[in-house]
Order: sequence, then C-alpha cells, then structure tokens
Amino acid sequence: MILVTGATGNVGRQVVGQLLEEGAEVRAMTRRPDRADLPDGVEVVRGDLAEPETLPEALRGVERAFLFPVPDRTAGFLAAARETGLRNVVLLSASAVRYERPNPIGRLHAGIEQAVTDSGLSWTILRPGAFMANDLQWWAPQIRATGVVRGLGDGVAGTPIDECDIAAVAVRALLDDGHAGRTYLLTGPEALTDPQRVAILGDVLGRELRFEGLSAEEYRAAMSARVPAPVVDALIAMRAESKEMAEVSPAPADLIGRAPHTYAEWAARHADGFR
Ligand SMILES: NC(=O)c1ccc[n+]([C@@H]2O[C@H](COP(=O)([O-])OP(=O)(O)OC[C@H]3O[C@@H](n4cnc5c(N)ncnc54)[C@H](OP(=O)(O)O)[C@@H]3O)[C@@H](O)[C@H]2O)c1
Repeated sequence: MILVTGATGNVGRQVVGQLLEEGAEVRAMTRRPDRADLPDGVEVVRGDLAEPETLPEALRGVERAFLFPVPDRTAGFLAAARETGLRNVVLLSASAVRYERPNPIGRLHAGIEQAVTDSGLSWTILRPGAFMANDLQWWAPQIRATGVVRGLGDGVAGTPIDECDIAAVAVRALLDDGHAGRTYLLTGPEALTDPQRVAILGDVLGRELRFEGLSAEEYRAAMSARVPAPVVDALIAMRAESKEMAEVSPAPADLIGRAPHTYAEWAARHADGFR
C-alpha cells in the first residue's frame, strides 16, 4: 500500500492518478474526504499532518509514502511512520533549498529535509523549482479580468515545471528500486521570463495579452491583499538567485524516460483555466 499525503493538491492528485494507472494500491490522505473528489479505486482516509493522532490509522499497512511538506509537522508523521513500519518516504521539497543565499522558503524546506534524512527511514527527496500551476493561481484571474499580467519587472528567467512531471518522478521513486538516498532537482525543459510565458499564453488562448513589469515596491503593494508580506519578500529574494532559477535539470527526463512538458504544452492543457 502506498500513502499519498497532500493528495488533493497540484502534485498529490497527479501522484494518486498516475499510481492508479500503474496498478498500485493507493491510499489518499485528506483533511476533508467529503470534498476530496478523488478517483475511483483509491482508498481515501481522513488525516491531518497537524493532528498526529490521525496518522497511525492513515499509515496502517503502508510501505511507501509520498510526503507533502507542512512546516513543523513532519516529525509527527515520521514518528508514526517508524511505528507502523513504513519503509520508504518520497518527500516533496523545493529547489530553493540549494540556493547559495539563504532564503526563508529554502530554510523552511531544509528543515523538513533534515527531519526526513535523520528519520532512519529510506528516503528520496524531490526538489522542484516553480510549478507551472502558479500561473493558474496568480495570473489566470488577471488574464480573465484585464488581459494584463502584472509581475516583477526584473527580467528574471525561471524554468517552471509541469506538476504532472513532478508526480511522474515521484511515482518512479515510489515504485522502482535505486532511488533511496537520492535527491533530485526537478525543472521544466526551458528557461522563460515572465513576459515570454505571457506571450505563450496569448498564443495558446488566441488573445492579445500584455505583461506589465512592476518594481519590487509596486509588486509588494499589488500582492499585499492576497499574500502575507514575508512570503512576497521571500519570492522577491529568491528571484535574486537568477542564475540558479534559470538552470535546466536533466533529472526529470532521465527519471521518467521522456522530455518534461514545455510551458506551451502545459498551457494548452490548462487553457480553459485561463478563459
Ligand atoms: N508552487 C511552487 O512553485 C513550489 C515550488 C517548489 C516547491 N513547492 C512545494 O510544494 C508545495 C505545494 O504543493 P501542491 O501545489 O501540490 O500543494 P497544494 O495544491 O497547495 O495542496 C496541498 C494539499 O495538501 C493538503 N494539506 C495542507 N495542509 C495539510 C496538513 N496540515 N495535513 C495534511 N494535508 C494538508 C491539502 O489537502 P486537504 O485540504 O485535502 O487536506 C492540500 O490540497 C508547497 O507548499 C511547497 O512546499 C512549491
């Protein structure tokens, strides 16, 4: 049995679906089973990483697990996992861990990684960069409302990755031998600036879209209604690591045996979400 935590999330939902396609026995953990809308064939269990008393039941009979990172909530999961006989854990972490200059997002994930590597369990760590899904969250409402995307005008390029490719790597790490003790940097196949991604979305949607570059101050003000200030500051600080953000990792293609999806492919699949 394989347990997927964060199973209703961008990555976790894909992990569940892809494991089922491979014929695996899957249990999906969610805090709200009534709203989870998970596919037939998966066992759904109520569990919350913030409520350790829910975890032994979720972990019963589980050999391998996909772990969604919740800050300060990993220790309870790992303790319960040791008790119930879990063998392998595949952790969703973040590429920011490896940025030379310390940043809050990297520090947070480094703490979770440390707990996992110290746990005594067999582990694999996935360090994705920015998810393509972020653009659905942040950009789609602006595109629908105005056709103008307002973002940092720093010209930084990133290598966003399709969540379904992160999941494909997770599935290989959960099902195949040879991934224990390995840490994988996961990126998309190409470095793109924000205006380049907006142009691709315009092509896919058949609409004229515009990118408006903001200063850090303007960006903070624009985001303040929706995102806590420390998170915005962390995002701005991370983009100062522009060389690392533009790095393309060979790991996804090596691990899943095909090229990871391009931004245009992802955008075509999610076009309705921008309309
Ligand atoms: N976005 C990026 O660019 C990026 C880049 C690198 C790394 N990451 C990492 O990836 C994470 C986001 O992954 P995602 O997009 O797949 O997640 P997501 O869509 O934000 O969903 C996460 C799921 O986790 C569950 N969850 C939240 N708190 C929980 C808790 N206390 N206990 C158990 N389950 C809980 C929720 O499901 P229920 O409500 O059903 O319980 C939620 O649907 C980030 O937090 C970060 O650590 C993100």
